[in-house]
Amino acid sequence: MRNPWLKLSVLLFIWFSLNCQLSFGADTISANQSLSGNRTVVSSGGQFVLGFFTPGNSSNYYIGIWYGYQQVSRQTPVWVANRETPVRDIYSSELKISDGNLVLFNGSQVAIWSTNISSNNSSSVVAVLEDGGNLVLRDGPNSSEPLWQSLDHPTHTWLPGGKLSLNKRTNQSQLLTSWKNSEDPAPGLYSLELDPAGTNSYIILWNRTREYWTSGAWDEQSRIFSLVPEMRLNYIYNFSFYSDENESYFTYSLYNSEIISRFIMDYSGQIKQLSWLESSQQWNLFWSQPRQQCQVYAFCGAFGSCNEGGLPFCSCLRGFHPKSEANWNLSDFSDGCERTTKLQCEEDPSLATGKTDKFLESPNVQLPQNARSMNVGSMSECESTCLVYCNCTAYAYDSGSCSIWMTELLDLQQYSGDVSNGQTIYIRLAESEFQSSSNNNGIIIGAVAGSVGLVLCLVIFAILRWRRKRMINLKVEGSLLAFGYRDLQNATKNFSEKLGGGGFGSVFKGLLPDSSIIAVKQLESISQGEKQFRSEVSTIGTVQHVNLVRLRGFCSEGTRKLLVYDYMPNGSLDVHLFQEENSKALAWKTRYQIALGTARGLTYLHEKCRDCIIHCDIKPENILLDAEFCPKVSDFGLAKLIGRDFSRVLTTMRGTRGYLAPEWISGVAVTAKADVYSYGMMLFEIVSGRRNSELHEEGKVRFFPTSVARVITEDGDVLSLLDPGLNGEAPMDELSRICKVACWCIQDDETHRPSMGQVVQILEGVLDVNVPPVPRSLHVFADNSEHIIFFTESSSSQSPRTPSYNYASSQATSNTSSTSS
Ligand SMILES: *[C@@H]1O[C@H](CO)[C@@H](O)[C@H](O)[C@H]1NC(C)=O
Ligand SMILES: *[C@@H]1O[C@H](CO)[C@@H](O)[C@H](O)[C@H]1NC(C)=O
Ligand SMILES: *[C@@H]1O[C@H](CO)[C@@H](O)[C@H](O)[C@H]1NC(C)=O
Ligand SMILES: *[C@@H]1O[C@H](CO)[C@@H](O)[C@H](O)[C@H]1NC(C)=O
Ligand SMILES: *[C@@H]1O[C@H](CO)[C@@H](O)[C@H](O)[C@H]1NC(C)=O
Ligand SMILES: *[C@@H]1O[C@H](CO)[C@@H](O)[C@H](O)[C@H]1NC(C)=O
Ligand SMILES: *[C@@H]1O[C@H](CO)[C@@H](O)[C@H](O)[C@H]1NC(C)=O
Ligand SMILES: *[C@@H]1O[C@H](CO)[C@@H](O)[C@H](O)[C@H]1NC(C)=O
Ligand SMILES: *[C@@H]1O[C@H](CO)[C@@H](O)[C@H](O)[C@H]1NC(C)=O
Ligand SMILES: *[C@@H]1O[C@H](CO)[C@@H](O)[C@H](O)[C@H]1NC(C)=O
Ligand SMILES: *[C@@H]1O[C@H](CO)[C@@H](O)[C@H](O)[C@H]1NC(C)=O
Ligand SMILES: *[C@@H]1O[C@H](CO)[C@@H](O)[C@H](O)[C@H]1NC(C)=O
Repeated sequence: MRNPWLKLSVLLFIWFSLNCQLSFGADTISANQSLSGNRTVVSSGGQFVLGFFTPGNSSNYYIGIWYGYQQVSRQTPVWVANRETPVRDIYSSELKISDGNLVLFNGSQVAIWSTNISSNNSSSVVAVLEDGGNLVLRDGPNSSEPLWQSLDHPTHTWLPGGKLSLNKRTNQSQLLTSWKNSEDPAPGLYSLELDPAGTNSYIILWNRTREYWTSGAWDEQSRIFSLVPEMRLNYIYNFSFYSDENESYFTYSLYNSEIISRFIMDYSGQIKQLSWLESSQQWNLFWSQPRQQCQVYAFCGAFGSCNEGGLPFCSCLRGFHPKSEANWNLSDFSDGCERTTKLQCEEDPSLATGKTDKFLESPNVQLPQNARSMNVGSMSECESTCLVYCNCTAYAYDSGSCSIWMTELLDLQQYSGDVSNGQTIYIRLAESEFQSSSNNNGIIIGAVAGSVGLVLCLVIFAILRWRRKRMINLKVEGSLLAFGYRDLQNATKNFSEKLGGGGFGSVFKGLLPDSSIIAVKQLESISQGEKQFRSEVSTIGTVQHVNLVRLRGFCSEGTRKLLVYDYMPNGSLDVHLFQEENSKALAWKTRYQIALGTARGLTYLHEKCRDCIIHCDIKPENILLDAEFCPKVSDFGLAKLIGRDFSRVLTTMRGTRGYLAPEWISGVAVTAKADVYSYGMMLFEIVSGRRNSELHEEGKVRFFPTSVARVITEDGDVLSLLDPGLNGEAPMDELSRICKVACWCIQDDETHRPSMGQVVQILEGVLDVNVPPVPRSLHVFADNSEHIIFFTESSSSQSPRTPSYNYASSQATSNTSSTSS
């Protein structure tokens, strides 16, 4: 053999074959085997592995089941046996069959976990790990009836094929219980279960008692839970409901068995659907509920305060500190906070009236739970009522009604910014927590005078500073201006003129001292650190094109992250497309230029930048128009900035669902072709001047792309597709070209979609375009169907017309690039 590589690969092949043989048949623990040390049991197809694992940086070991490394390269436990009883030494611990049970023994041969069934102590009992991730205890390898199976005892993960049931005889539900934190699989405070009251809805409970979320009842006809309407958008999970006199339960399967997806009760108190993306080596969040972190009951624990805009979400109230710094650092806030200084009455019970305790005013909050209402007439009476009890921690007084809290404060939420429905609470603290020096009456006047003087000085200083700021140039970072928060607050008159809101945050109009008009975007939920944020922003700053909205600067002060853009006087495309009946419709020529300009902008993002930027959120709301109606794509680059939270943002955005490419949801890697899909969906709307799917009376849905596809493939009347407001004023060739391109762009298989560069060439008339096939997903959105259930099967065999790559043709000469700017 001359080629050493060949030799090596033959050897490797043999090695792999041997290895495979070893792992097959290693899916069983039988009477005379045990699992110990780093030995594992692997399911016959290699999908799942059973063995000892250690979560994160913990030094504890647990018996668990995780995905096979060929499936998911990051160890991800889906089931844990000894959740509450970890072991330290895996070589002296043993998992084995004992007395007809599967039992875990620690180093002292004490049984610390068991399947705990009463059995006949048969020596033929075996435990088999199956390919669905189910560990099954059977009496003999061929016995069909399982004695016990892990799917019936889920921990925090609900795997496809598993069920979460309600036993109707005992009214007991199976629970999906969160871990305590990322390093401790012991049962945490949050659990999901089927409502024991028999409402056919799932509920999430805090500490097994208090409900804070419900799915709403299952509707068998539309196959969704009533309060989870986004299930209509569900391409992945096939939910089914069963019920008889003994039990009722839900189970689910995956439409596409190649997708790796799971459903968990997360230690954040939210239920989450995640899909594995091997290309990025991470779990992609597809959906979660409750949507807002602060909707999770008591997420920040006692005396904690939850702020949806903050990162981390939790902080301690003033005068308090985290009870367990270590857990707090693991994002486990449930222990809450404790007083830094004891109250006077706690120190000395004889001072029961606690005269020297004071109250800290905390405005703009959502009041905590478990208030007691008091029948008193004024605010000062309310305060003194609270002082009477040493265990009174806070009071609130609002239009004649007094509430006091005689317990720990739970579920307090701090609103930030412009939320106006907040209330004010007065929190009791030891006097020494207040730094005012006014113990002695004699000094008070002096102190007051002094502080008035100080305040005056500060005000003057601030005005001077502010004026200087107005005069001097702003700091420049790369091509971008670095603004201070103050500057933007002034420029936007304290964020008073809102231009719009989106998935990433609200946008406000502002005026800079040089009298240029700007649009300021307040970003929400940025998960990145300062350095990353700045580097990401400066990358976006370098992306400049006549069809892209220019980023002028940013502001980054702590959790306050803002982006400053050029202001676009004509607003966004949706306003002009979907307008009132009798106002003037956007002329065809303008529409065509908008379609072409947008395609050029996207081509630049996809092909001409140093790193390809996938926009991820193309829709009319994100196409802005300058004074001449030249289109500018906005919000590019933000998907990356938002990072892992992006898919959550996506699924919670209104109006986005119609633009989402199927691959976004099926969990495979997303490429620039996902933008092509959304762009295609938008083209339909540019043609029709209406939203693609409109809800008509009686809940009927019209889906415009289906009509277009039909007209185009059956050579029908293209003019019938045009916005009626245009009175048929559009050149037939342009109209039909745009409709054909749109149909090509929304092909199910991304390889059948053109690139944005090709779209530009087609719209410029450089490339011809052939008749597209009808995308398979459009068959699902049948016209006038009562409910749209989106799902695509993997585009396999029985497709009626296999689309070939068809738009290239004669006139394509050289690399005629999209000449822009
Ligand atoms: C015990 O293990 C041996 C081989 O290691 C095997 O031949 C035998 O069948 C096993 N006994 C039982 C009861 O499984
Ligand atoms: C398992 O442990 C043995 C002995 O400690 C060690 O030699 C071996 O490399 C380990 N195997 C793996 C896969 O870690
Ligand atoms: C483990 O600890 C190191 C150092 O403290 C930290 O960088 C790392 O992120 C931790 N890993 C996990 C999974 O928490
Ligand atoms: C089960 O059988 C084994 C031997 O087969 C015996 O040692 C053990 O004591 C039995 N356990 C019970 C609970 O009967
Ligand atoms: C095994 O568990 C028992 C009971 O929990 C405990 O007393 C003993 O110390 C443990 N042994 C080891 C080696 O962890
Ligand atoms: C097994 O069940 C019994 C009662 O049914 C319980 O007392 C015991 O703690 C359980 N043991 C384990 C290891 O779960
Ligand atoms: C135990 O054996 C009896 C009689 O052989 C049988 O009826 C029963 O189902 C067995 N129980 C289990 C748990 O296998
Ligand atoms: C189990 O079934 C297989 C094939 O179905 C058979 O070859 C084997 O002998 C059976 N084993 C026992 C213990 O019955
Ligand atoms: C279970 O709940 C139902 C409905 O709430 C009730 O009618 C029934 O009596 C309960 N059964 C038990 C065993 O508690
Ligand atoms: C949860 O409830 C139990 C009683 O059911 C109680 O002892 C415990 O303190 C509660 N946990 C929290 C965090 O309040
Ligand atoms: C969904 O699941 C049900 C029950 O398992 C099954 O009958 C049905 O065929 C599945 N639907 C699809 C589209 O896979
Ligand atoms: C608070 O203290 C009062 C009297 O000191 C007592 O009656 C009441 O039960 C206490 N409340 C709580 C929740 O401890």
